[in-house]
Amino acid sequence: MEFPFQISQILPIDENNFSFIDSNQELSSLRISSDFAMIINKMGEASSVSQSLPSIITSASKFFDSGHKIFFKIDDNKVLGFIKVGYKKLFLRDRNNNVHEVNPLCVLDFYVHESTQRKGIGKLLFDYMLKNESITPKRLAYDRPSNKLLCFLKKHFNLVNYVTQNNNYVVFDEFFLNQNECNDKVYDFETGRLLKSMSPYYKNNNAFGSGTKKKINRKNLINDENFKNNLA
Ligand code: ACO
Repeated sequence: MEFPFQISQILPIDENNFSFIDSNQELSSLRISSDFAMIINKMGEASSVSQSLPSIITSASKFFDSGHKIFFKIDDNKVLGFIKVGYKKLFLRDRNNNVHEVNPLCVLDFYVHESTQRKGIGKLLFDYMLKNESITPKRLAYDRPSNKLLCFLKKHFNLVNYVTQNNNYVVFDEFFLNQNECNDKVYDFETGRLLKSMSPYYKNNNAFGSGTKKKINRKNLINDENFKNNLA
């Protein structure tokens, strides 16, 4: 998408034409820049239109103080695409019907301009974000991924299988492997029992005896808004 100014005068751009903005950082000059607002608002609007979303999820006013990070790919006075990520507390169910309380990095919005889709720009942007965040695609959660994004993840990262969640996030089966690295909490979906720091696969292997075991009041658990949404 073309803008009536040099993007490099507004955003910090590296030698590979990527730009990275962290809303956690001091952004006073960007806050008052109407050109920056124009970039983020126009790109956010185009993304929502492209996904047929009922509302715009990326805008300048929502971005500041959100804790989110946004990565752009630039070409002179054009912004070719962006990806926005941020951490969210989620309750996610695995194939063994255990519910994980986790705080993963989530892909919240991802868009490449129509004129340059399917030319590798999305993969470049995604890789840049992964490197910057020191993360792999299987460790990410994806907020309402479009069919195009699901095809993208299958093609580039062989990510295919997932359990449908009621909160519309997608995490692939690989997300739940090596949970010991993740510091999450695991609950039994049926009883609300807390199976702390356990691999979900222990459940089917009858290995409860050796792990930390603590029962949680199911009433408290299901009163939690996030957990309730997952049960809904
Ligand atoms: N139909 C099906 N698959 C597609 C399409 C499409 N129209 N466009 C891209 N893909 C997938 C395919 O796997 C494609 O490989 P192929 O051409 O061999 O079939 C692959 O992506 C291409 O990879 P890149 O060229 O690196 O990706 P691209 O630059 O096109 O960016 C993106 C991918 C961001 C999904 C882009 O297509 C886009 O902006 N789509 C519209 C907006 C959108 O759906 N964004 C995701 C929203 S969900 C979220 O953000 C959590």
